[in-house]
Amino acid sequence: MTERSVRPATSADLESFAKVLRDRAFFDDRHKRQLNKDGVLFLGWLGSRPAGVVYLWMEEAEEQPIRDHLPHVPLIMNLEVHKDLRRNGVGTALVREAERHLLAKGHYRVALAVRTDNHDAARLYDDLGYRDWGHDKVTCLAAVTSPDGTVVSEKEVCHVLVKDLVPITPVPRTEVDADRRFTAVLTRPSPPA
Ligand SMILES: CC(C)(COP(=O)(O)OP(=O)(O)OC[C@H]1O[C@@H](n2cnc3c(N)ncnc32)[C@H](O)[C@@H]1OP(=O)(O)O)[C@@H](O)C(=O)NCCC(=O)NCCS
Repeated sequence: MTERSVRPATSADLESFAKVLRDRAFFDDRHKRQLNKDGVLFLGWLGSRPAGVVYLWMEEAEEQPIRDHLPHVPLIMNLEVHKDLRRNGVGTALVREAERHLLAKGHYRVALAVRTDNHDAARLYDDLGYRDWGHDKVTCLAAVTSPDGTVVSEKEVCHVLVKDLVPITPVPRTEVDADRRFTAVLTRPSPPA
């Protein structure tokens, strides 16, 4: 099986991804936000082929209902895998890497919005443990590039899904200590004071 890899974008990656996925203005916009520490642009490869992208939005949500119900909760956005490379686990790997990044930064909750008619993506998110947030659908703003190259926002109706992230803490297992091997146990963080 061809190996998947995911890492944050560098400026050297942008051109090759813009050739096969979204347009250059999108990548420039998200990369600029990453440089401002407002989010992280994760890129995924299948072997050496640029395969997919996801952006982790760490700013407050642009949509008021999401800001109201999920203040300070990071958002997974702009998940996309090249159409010829789908069903190879790249989408899943991108979301998981974004989740790992959040846990490492001390975030225990993440959210996203998925169009009400996007059943393929909804299934992926369901498999990964994302659940409906229990409030109304939201009119979201999708980043679309206009003919002059500027990124503009377009409205679409979405379900909002949330996931509580659980850190995996390595704990030494006495019987294998001599081997310096570790087993993973699940721990749930204490809620913030
Ligand atoms: C949604 C998307 C990112 C999935 O990427 P991917 O690399 O194919 O995802 P994975 O290979 O990790 O698939 C994971 C799971 O998602 C679900 N899934 C993905 N594509 C599917 C499809 N076409 N039909 C049904 N289920 C699908 C399945 O549960 C799949 O698991 P399985 O292959 O074991 O059945 C990709 O289809 C895509 O780019 N779609 C267009 C953009 C989009 O809709 N983005 C989401 C915006 S919210």
